[in-house]
Amino acid sequence: MSVKCSIFALLMIDTGISATEVKAPASQGKQFYIESYGCAMNFSDSEIIGSILSENGYSITQDEFSADLILLNTCAIRENAEKTIRDRLKHLRNNKRKNSDLIIGVLGCMAERLKTKLLEEEKLVDIVAGPDAYRDLPKLVEEVVDGQRAINVLLSREETYAEISPLRLNTNGVSAFISIMRGCDNMCSFCVVPFTRGRERSRDPESIVKEARQLSEAGYKEITLLGQNVDSYLWFGGGPKVEFKKATDEQKDNAVGFAKLLEMVALVDPNMRIRFSTSHPKDIGDDVLFTIKKYDNICKYIHLPAQSGNTRVLEVMNRTYTREWYLDKVKRIREIIPECGISCDIIAGFCSETEEEHQDTLSMMKESRFDFSYMYKYSERPGTPAHKKMTDDVPEEVKSRRLSEIIALQKELSLANNSAYIGKVVRVLTDSVSKKSEDDLSGRNDQNTKVVFPKGNHKIGDFVEVLVERVTPTTLIGKAIN
Ligand code: 5AD
Ligand code: SF4
Repeated sequence: MSVKCSIFALLMIDTGISATEVKAPASQGKQFYIESYGCAMNFSDSEIIGSILSENGYSITQDEFSADLILLNTCAIRENAEKTIRDRLKHLRNNKRKNSDLIIGVLGCMAERLKTKLLEEEKLVDIVAGPDAYRDLPKLVEEVVDGQRAINVLLSREETYAEISPLRLNTNGVSAFISIMRGCDNMCSFCVVPFTRGRERSRDPESIVKEARQLSEAGYKEITLLGQNVDSYLWFGGGPKVEFKKATDEQKDNAVGFAKLLEMVALVDPNMRIRFSTSHPKDIGDDVLFTIKKYDNICKYIHLPAQSGNTRVLEVMNRTYTREWYLDKVKRIREIIPECGISCDIIAGFCSETEEEHQDTLSMMKESRFDFSYMYKYSERPGTPAHKKMTDDVPEEVKSRRLSEIIALQKELSLANNSAYIGKVVRVLTDSVSKKSEDDLSGRNDQNTKVVFPKGNHKIGDFVEVLVERVTPTTLIGKAIN
């Protein structure tokens, strides 16, 4: 897909220094260092950024002190995430003191949300670039070398970085992410993502399959297809999804949805595991579930955020489904794929949530028997519909108490689910050495539960059959039997 140059127009902050000499490219012999915060999508984007910079003469360094360019790829989903990044920026002031030529860039969702504010407030930031502006980074760096501070936060309706082959960062050579779409059109009222990542657009399936093939040839054993709402993936030959109604009959006939894409990727290499994230309860359909069931190498695991178990709260969250719809989806998943692992995202203390409504979340969790959950206190984000139209009125201590109850219940559910594995054999893809002991390996079973076992002759990247002997709420512990 071609990308229009106009979307890369620059917004420059003039610092009064003008460049008159002709210089060598700023990148010559230069090193960049990158840190990623937040979701898997950001980690995947950092690999695209790495590729763009490498193509432009930069090499990567793991040592922030020898870097000429330090980039923070940031998250804005909750206030805490932004605080961590602000603290890190303050800390980086020391690096700047030691090396006055050091260039610091803030990229990603926080850059998109705060725009010029980051340059104005935090005098130590030189570059601000939003999620659709990464092709522009080499140019932005040149501008900084020329004495300006540079910003590009334009969002695109087309950019998918489709043909860029990511530079795999911090890789274990076993698991890799493939980004299949960008942006989100859902407008959940609490969420800043539609504002920081823009409209939903899907990537050309051929480029996705090509990337999967390259990963398989490079020896990778597991890929995770990433999108804010993967079940809504739709490729019809170009343009954002909102344009689908204008597509020709031929484009509509040849359109590729998520179930088809999943199948295309699964067929690349039957020995490579396929995962995907995140699913939306309103969009995941039987076609996707039957595709998961059909292919052995598609992991039997679905991350299905509910956010709340109460229909009124779901309505004010603009999730577009009810408690019953969600529970029916879970039931349907288990009917079609009985062994499927299911995990959830839950928000405690959203605007106007009552005690009874919180109890509905707990009962929904019990009914759904999630394997694990990601659980958060509601954090108001400026500019979101909830910020504009609702009041963040659940007191902090009530949010904390509700969150503790949710976490305690999930711990019980996880322990019960994990206990059912005792005495059974699970197939594990080993991805690391255990954090607790050098003598143990760690990996995940099909359902995405962590498994630890003594390493014996096994190594990272091996598929190992493990007999589960004991469990904790987070881990299955056992011994290899092959
Ligand atoms: N406050 C708390 N949690 C949030 N999430 C998104 N926005 C917020 C917010 N404002 C959570 C949701 C989402 C996950 C990625 O982050 O549960 O699924
Ligand atoms: Fe945010 Fe909702 Fe989109 Fe997820 S689906 S990124 S929670 S708006």
